[in-house]
Amino acid sequence: MEKTTLISTCIFDAYGTLFDVSAAAREAAAEPGNEALAAVWPQVAADWRNKQLQYSWLRAVARKHVDFWQVTKDGLDWALENAGLSDEALRDRLLKLYWGLSPYPEVPAMLTELKQRGIQTGILSNGSPEMLRGAVESAGIGHLLDAVLSVEEVGVYKPHDLVYEMVESRFICERGEVLFVSSNGWDAAGAANYGYQTAWVNRTGEPMDRLYAQPRYTLPDLTGIPRLL
Ligand code: 2OP
Repeated sequence: MEKTTLISTCIFDAYGTLFDVSAAAREAAAEPGNEALAAVWPQVAADWRNKQLQYSWLRAVARKHVDFWQVTKDGLDWALENAGLSDEALRDRLLKLYWGLSPYPEVPAMLTELKQRGIQTGILSNGSPEMLRGAVESAGIGHLLDAVLSVEEVGVYKPHDLVYEMVESRFICERGEVLFVSSNGWDAAGAANYGYQTAWVNRTGEPMDRLYAQPRYTLPDLTGIPRLL
């Protein structure tokens, strides 16, 4: 694997990269009383995520911004109706679980190693400041992050350059010293196009997105991140 020249700052996408976005539907499906969800939870989780992202991009193009909690609720409503599961108690439960999504198991050790090596660390996410606070607190990783940056500061979603620029405004670093890590191929493309070194975490063996830039690294999970430094 090609070695990077120097990385001073490691920035992570949140949803799907540090936090497992399927966990809410999976955990709710295992609870008593949610048997109807148990039969279809993978489809609900996939529809929820796809609609959430589509709504963020469509709202960015149409300049009709609302925060990520709103598009998360709108995406869930579409997914539940599509599965014939429009049920207020289930909706509330899924949203509560989403607020405190589980991190992927390797996240705390990986971030600890980066901090031990003196790397600046942060999150750059579409998430609203409140929902990011909920996820970071419930994962217990706040002490391992120097900043949690939300697109709400600039009022437009990724992959707009204004979002990637936030890292340079917040951290003392050169653009080329930033390693941006995302499991979303389109987000890795956006960050690579902006000029960050980029690692795409491809957990499910998806094909690479056909977009305007490509990630420098592709990894199966986050355990290999410290080895890129
Ligand atoms: C995030 O910004 C895109 O969900 C992704 O956290």
